[in-house]
Amino acid sequence: MLAICYGSQAGDRWWVAYMTLLFFCLVFSLPTGRNSICGYRSCPATNPSMLNVHLVPHTHDDVGWLKTVDQYYYGDRNNIQHAGVQYILDSVIDQLQKDPARRFIYVETAFFYRWWRQQSQSTQRIVAQLVNEGRLEFINGGWCMSDEATTHYSAVIDQMTLGLRFLNDTFGECGRPRVAWHIDPFGHAREHASIFAQMGYDGFFFGRLDYQDKARRMKTKEMEMLWRASESLTPPLADLFTGTNL
Ligand SMILES: *[C@@H]1O[C@H](CO)[C@@H](O)[C@H](O)[C@H]1NC(C)=O
Ligand SMILES: [Zn+2]
Repeated sequence: MLAICYGSQAGDRWWVAYMTLLFFCLVFSLPTGRNSICGYRSCPATNPSMLNVHLVPHTHDDVGWLKTVDQYYYGDRNNIQHAGVQYILDSVIDQLQKDPARRFIYVETAFFYRWWRQQSQSTQRIVAQLVNEGRLEFINGGWCMSDEATTHYSAVIDQMTLGLRFLNDTFGECGRPRVAWHIDPFGHAREHASIFAQMGYDGFFFGRLDYQDKARRMKTKEMEMLWRASESLTPPLADLFTGTNL
């Protein structure tokens, strides 16, 4: 199963520099955990007479690319690639506590799961509180960000299920990712978008985009769209709000 996590990782030169990214807070409002303010209600207040831009730091931690998963997690063999995921989580949790206005979105459950199991109960309580307040938010939430070209849909569903189950079991409703996030695969499959829509995601953000498609979309202002991701499913079952970047 992990093999499907390895497929998409050859183009990361661009993405390692992308620790922050323009992310438009979606303005739908959906029910969240009963006594918590996670989800869209935890977005900072906006000014309706302006274009509101939210800068949200996010992860892109490859679940194996140039190094093994262990080497990425522990920060070993940094001569190959300078990456140590455990330190990202340590420092993010520390910094989130220092300012309630800070937000962070975490993507790859394979690494988060590993880190979570190594934390003390008191750290786990702090993290759960950050999740309940929408200050730490999971997006995508599968075990990894899978490739879209070489993968079979059954394996995609399996690895998404593994990650999403852990988040639900650990954090409940506030751990549920609302946005699918595929910022590194090489091309994007319609079936993948259809699966995400059927899994209940509200939106989908992806990169990279074919350069001709991108040039056309920039001209016609179609970098954001409602993707009708299935020919056969009755709309809006497989319709998905989609934003492209790069
Ligand atoms: C999430 O966990 C709750 C509580 O265990 C369970 O009732 C619910 O079915 C789970 N949701 C999903 C989508 O698995
Ligand atoms: Zn990658």
